[in-house]
Amino acid sequence: VAASVTATAEEGYPSRPISLVVPFAAGGPTDTIARIIAPPMAKALGRPITIANIPGGGGTTGITEASRAKPDGYTIMVGHMGTHGAAPALFRTLKYDPARTFDPIGVAAGTPVVIVARKDFPAADLHGFIEALQTKGSTYNQAHAGVGSVSHSTGMLFDAIANARPTFVVYRGTGPAMNDLISGQVDFLTDQIVNVVPHLQAGTIRAYAIATPERSPALPSVPTTREAGLPNFEVSAWNAVFAPKNLPKDVHAKLVDALDKALDDPTVRERLLKLGGRIPEGGERGPAALQKLVESEVARWTPALRAAVDSE
Ligand code: MLT
Repeated sequence: VAASVTATAEEGYPSRPISLVVPFAAGGPTDTIARIIAPPMAKALGRPITIANIPGGGGTTGITEASRAKPDGYTIMVGHMGTHGAAPALFRTLKYDPARTFDPIGVAAGTPVVIVARKDFPAADLHGFIEALQTKGSTYNQAHAGVGSVSHSTGMLFDAIANARPTFVVYRGTGPAMNDLISGQVDFLTDQIVNVVPHLQAGTIRAYAIATPERSPALPSVPTTREAGLPNFEVSAWNAVFAPKNLPKDVHAKLVDALDKALDDPTVRERLLKLGGRIPEGGERGPAALQKLVESEVARWTPALRAAVDSE
């Protein structure tokens, strides 16, 4: 026994593969970001990282499950502005506290939100789109990835601001939702930029506006909501890496370092930027910045979503 204990001690963390939980179906923005950062993180850690998609509950099912894993660094997760910002406002019995149940590792990417519709939607611009939603209301189907997800929380906010009452259609992630948008089974959604850029470039969907003050270099022809006449709808999402609380200090430091190295990796940077992702730099990186972001996002989204629910 002594020999094996010594060996393990010498090997240190990680001595076996790591599971990265993605709380949405494969093919969506969170899964895309996870699969971009995982290989260079695995290289930095010297062990494989396997992606585990656990969809459901707007992302809260997978996050809850991952939060209950042993804090040994072998189960980590990707959370985002929905699971770690909007969810507390929309779940009475959320089984975790975004600001207390986790050891934050760091932000992986900022993901501006884009209003996208099926390519033959009968409106030439955002003004016409909103008019159509207001006149034909519930006949239009709005996709989202479950209560509290980015597409749901920003979609609710959009509907409240646009005074629209579409019919919600729920998916296990905006990856599957995008398939239905392309085939015209669903009419529109508010989705994260990394999930829409390839389809906009392929011309299989259309975008009415991006909900950030500036246009995205990845989508130069898509107007901002401010330009398009809906200045109040300005929201941006983000995806970040978390671990169950109480990691050993050396394990936490190795994970923080591995994410930092991934975000400096040229391939990661090129892929994230091409998809319109925003890469955290300097002080925006690491656990303290992520902890502050989670606390400010929960504080920001709770009143906004409670008001949107009341206005329904
Ligand atoms: C996804 O990866 O499917 C999205 O993050 C879901 C969402 O939050 O809209």
